[in-house]
Amino acid sequence: MIRVALFASGTGTNAMKLLEAARELHHIEIALVLVDQAKSQLPQRMKNENPRHTYRVKVIERTGTREQHEAQITEALVDAKIDWVFLAGYMRILSSEMTKKFRFINIHPSLLPLYAGLDAYERAFANGDAESGITIHHVDSGVDTGPVIVQEKFPRLTTDTLDSFMDRGKALEWTLYPQVLKKLNDEGTL
Ligand code: GRF
Repeated sequence: MIRVALFASGTGTNAMKLLEAARELHHIEIALVLVDQAKSQLPQRMKNENPRHTYRVKVIERTGTREQHEAQITEALVDAKIDWVFLAGYMRILSSEMTKKFRFINIHPSLLPLYAGLDAYERAFANGDAESGITIHHVDSGVDTGPVIVQEKFPRLTTDTLDSFMDRGKALEWTLYPQVLKKLNDEGTL
């Protein structure tokens, strides 16, 4: 079994898609779901949409220094014997010590290296780009850097509003991220 942790901070829709996908993947066990903000919608979504499943959800709020927070996260990852961590809207920058200790994967809503950092959809849309895309990549100590696993484009239509543009991107995120989890299941590595 490959033991996977999901980390989220906000709405948690990608994490939900990964949880759903994992049900069909016989070599993947989601052994930990970690949320770092009490206001994240993910725990409630999991209760509403997955009432039969009892995943281990941990809320580790960042209260002290980054070092203290990462020490708590490390303990949770070691306790759950995690092999891979999928970041799903986790709004923290991990230290290089963390990224050396564990294998992290991230999803970013742009054609990296374009629009690394926050508000990638908004910036691509404001710039009037004819297309944008989604990138799933290994995490290193930089911000949205690290080797790319998969990158896929989606078009911006002339009729798009920011909302319809983001909806098209999110739909692609929800397809691509589970595909990467399946690749890990099938190939044993990424
Ligand atoms: C997604 O757009 C993802 O690409 C980015 O953060 C957002 C998280 O959305 N890293 P959700 O919490 O999965 O709905």
